[in-house]
Amino acid sequence: QLILLFLVSYVIGSIPFGLLLTALSGGGDIRKIGSGNIGATNVLRTGRRGLAAATLLLDALKGAAAVLIARFFFPGASEMTMAVATVAVVLGHCFPVWLGFRGGKGVATGLGTLWVLSWPVGLACCVIWLLVARLSRISSAGALAAFLLAPVLMVFLSGKPVSSPVPIATLLVSLLIWVRHAGNIGRLLTGREPRVTVDQAPPR
Ligand code: G3P
Repeated sequence: QLILLFLVSYVIGSIPFGLLLTALSGGGDIRKIGSGNIGATNVLRTGRRGLAAATLLLDALKGAAAVLIARFFFPGASEMTMAVATVAVVLGHCFPVWLGFRGGKGVATGLGTLWVLSWPVGLACCVIWLLVARLSRISSAGALAAFLLAPVLMVFLSGKPVSSPVPIATLLVSLLIWVRHAGNIGRLLTGREPRVTVDQAPPR
C-alpha cells in the first residue's frame, strides 16, 4: 500500500504546472527562458505575474493534496504514510517522468507539504522564505533559508521526536531542495545570482 501511495503522490507531484500554464497561455517553453526552471520564480521572468502566482499556488496545492490524501483518505493512514507522500510528491516535482526526469526545485511543493504536516511549520517557513527573498530580493536565498530551518522547526514546533517519520521526511525533502539549488548556490557564492525581477533572464 505504501508503494501505491508513493506512486500516486509521485504522479501528483509530477504535474508541471509552470510549464503547462506558460505553454497554454502562449508563453512558449518555460525551460528555454531565464534559469530554465519550471517553477514560479522563473514564470515571473516571463513578465506574467498572475501566471507566476498561479504556478506557486498550484505547485503548493499539489504538495498539500498528496499529504492530505495520505492523512485522511489512505487506508492505514499514519505518520509514515504522510512521510512517504511528502518525499514522493517532491520527488515527482523534481524528477517528472514526463519531462525526462528534469523538473523543478521543489520549493512551492515542499512548502505545500509542510502546511499539512504541521501548519505552524508551514507558516514559519513561508514567512522566512518571503522575508529573506524580500530583503535580499533573491528568491533562491529565501528558499534555501526556509529549507535550512524546516527540519529544525519541524522538531521544535510539531513536537514530534527527531527520529519519527515526519521530521525525517522533512530533512530528506530539505536536502533534496538544497541539492536542486546547486547552481543557485554557486551563483550566490560568486555574487552572480539575479535579483527577483519581472522580464529578466538570469545566466543559465
Ligand atoms: O523556487 C525556485 C527558486 O528558489 C529559484 O528559482 O529560477 O531562480 O533558479 P530560479
